[in-house]
Amino acid sequence: MKNYFITSVLLCSVFTAGCFSQEKQIHPSFDLTPSSLQLIIEDLNPEIQKRIIQNPYRFLQLALSMLEQPEELFLLADKKHAITRDQTPQEVVSPYDYGISVTRKDRTVSALMIDQLKNLCESAASEGLNIVFASGYRPFDYQEMIYNRYVDQMGQEDADRISARPGTSQHQLGTAVDFGTIDDSYALTEEGKWLTENAGNFGFSLSYPEGYEHITGYKWENWHYRYITIEGVEIQKEFFSDIQQYLIEFWDKHSNDLKEFRRE
Ligand code: DAL
Ligand code: ZN
Repeated sequence: MKNYFITSVLLCSVFTAGCFSQEKQIHPSFDLTPSSLQLIIEDLNPEIQKRIIQNPYRFLQLALSMLEQPEELFLLADKKHAITRDQTPQEVVSPYDYGISVTRKDRTVSALMIDQLKNLCESAASEGLNIVFASGYRPFDYQEMIYNRYVDQMGQEDADRISARPGTSQHQLGTAVDFGTIDDSYALTEEGKWLTENAGNFGFSLSYPEGYEHITGYKWENWHYRYITIEGVEIQKEFFSDIQQYLIEFWDKHSNDLKEFRRE
């Protein structure tokens, strides 16, 4: 009887220990435990890793919604990562046709963002503000013309701080938008201030924030936003220090890893 009791206690302990040593899955949509997620995020800076480890469910929930969006919304196009000459948005539309204030009627943006662009402009208009769309999709050749013009005006070194070389502009993706007067003074206008406060609620993220030229490669551009969806803005704010470059670089490297662990 005594032996039976000891054996039962032992078996019970092994079973319990086994249960505890087996890590739990973080989120029902991913085959990921905390340790396997750690391997995916280990090249991020420690602050970002810490935030993800503290709230992995929320992180995966937001990542899931990004995985459910068209991939072209999160493509990396920056100084170190060029896209091909023939990369074009799936579909473009004209903001003018949607009743949005424009500086030029012939300019277009990716169809993926037009509804939120319209919502943003209407929301500002309801507060008496006129958000003007100035530039959106720029094909490779057009970006080449703009960049070369800047080089002629100010030399290559200065041009590289404010204009993307052809093949490296977010504008070629069709999901970047320039608002208003496209200069520093716009930040001080009511519209510029409204955008700083509210653009994120519509899924727009400032690509080149003040003080981050060493990270983004470009001087502050208060007028240049990229549409990355509302959940994209949330994950950027909550986990990636509110810096788009950190989020998109992570996505470029690891969205396929997350996809592999996704449960069908
Ligand atoms: N002005 C931004 C960097 C561009 O040319 O895409
Ligand atoms: Zn721009």
